Amino acid sequence: MKLKAYGKENSYPCAESLVVVDTPQAQGYSLEQVKNKVILGDALKVLKKLPSEAVDMVFIDPPYFLQLPNKTLRRWKVKSLVEAVQDDWDKFSSFVEYDTFMTQILSEARRVMKPNATIWVIATYHSIFRIGKIMQDLGYWILNDVIWVKTNPMPNWLGVRFTNATETLIWAVKDKKVKKYTFNREAAKEYGIGKIGANVWVLPICTGAERLKDGRGKRLHSTQKPVELLRRVLLTSTKEGDIVLDPVAGVGTTGYVARCLKRNFIMIEINPRYVEGIKKRFRDISLGNVPE
Ligand SMILES: C[S@@+](CC[C@H](N)C(=O)[O-])C[C@H]1O[C@@H](n2cnc3c(N)ncnc32)[C@H](O)[C@@H]1O
Repeated sequence: MKLKAYGKENSYPCAESLVVVDTPQAQGYSLEQVKNKVILGDALKVLKKLPSEAVDMVFIDPPYFLQLPNKTLRRWKVKSLVEAVQDDWDKFSSFVEYDTFMTQILSEARRVMKPNATIWVIATYHSIFRIGKIMQDLGYWILNDVIWVKTNPMPNWLGVRFTNATETLIWAVKDKKVKKYTFNREAAKEYGIGKIGANVWVLPICTGAERLKDGRGKRLHSTQKPVELLRRVLLTSTKEGDIVLDPVAGVGTTGYVARCLKRNFIMIEINPRYVEGIKKRFRDISLGNVPE
C-alpha cells in the first residue's frame, strides 16, 4: 500500500481525544474545535454547525441504498452464505427519502467547501446516477468521473447478470467558474491506466489485515474502502496541510490516510461502533502500525 506513518507519535491526534460527541446544546463548531477530530453524530445536524468555506476537499462515500431482498443470500451452486450489505444505515423507504438525504448532505458540503475546493462522491450503479443529477442541480460542476475497476469483485452469485466490478467516483467543483483547484497531474499519470492520466483506476477491494475486525473476528464495517483508493484521491487532489471533510466516515479510512499523508481531516460518523474502530486505527498508527 506504500503508506508510511510520518513524524513522531504526537503528529497524530491522540486516539483518546479524537472524538467530539455532538449534542443538541452545541450550536456550532469553530474549525479549531473539529480539526483532526471525529464528530460522533448525525451528519444532517453536524454539517449545519460547521463554518462556511472551511475545507479544501470533501470525500463522501454515502449509503448505497442497495435495496437487497430482505432474506439471506446464498451462493449459486455451493449455497454458502453471502456477506451482503444488509446494514440499517443503507435502508431508505423510497428514492424520494434517499434523494432528500443526499441533497441535504451535498448542499451543506457545498457551503462548507472553500471557493476552490473539490468534492469526490463514490457510489455504485444503484445510486451514482441520482447523485450526479442532484450534484448538477445544486450547482456543482463535474470535472471527471473516475472508474474504479476492482480486481477482486464480489461475483454475481446467482449467475443472472454481469458481475459488477466497478464503482464510480464523481469529482467536482462548487460551480463552473472554479478554475484554481488542486490537481496533481503527475500523480494522475501514475495511477490511471496507460501513461496519460486516464480516469480508470484498477485496484482490489479492502481485504486481509487491512480490514478492521470486531471482537468476534468478523469484519467491523461492510463497506470499508481500501487505503490505496483514498491515497490516490488525496494525492491527486490535495496538498500537504489541506483540510479534508468526510461526513459519513465509516471506520475512518479518509482521515486515517489523510494523516499519514500530512493532511488534516474532519470526520462525522453516526455509529459509535465504527467510531471505536477509528480510534483503534489511530492508536495503531501512533504505534507505527501502518499498512505497507
Ligand atoms: C459506505 S459507509 C462509509 C465507509 C467508509 N468510507 C470507510 O472506508 O469506512 C457509509 C457510512 O455512513 C454512515 N452514516 C449513514 N447515515 C449517516 C448520518 N446521517 N450521519 C453520519 N453518518 C452516517 C454509516 O454509519 C456508514 O458507516
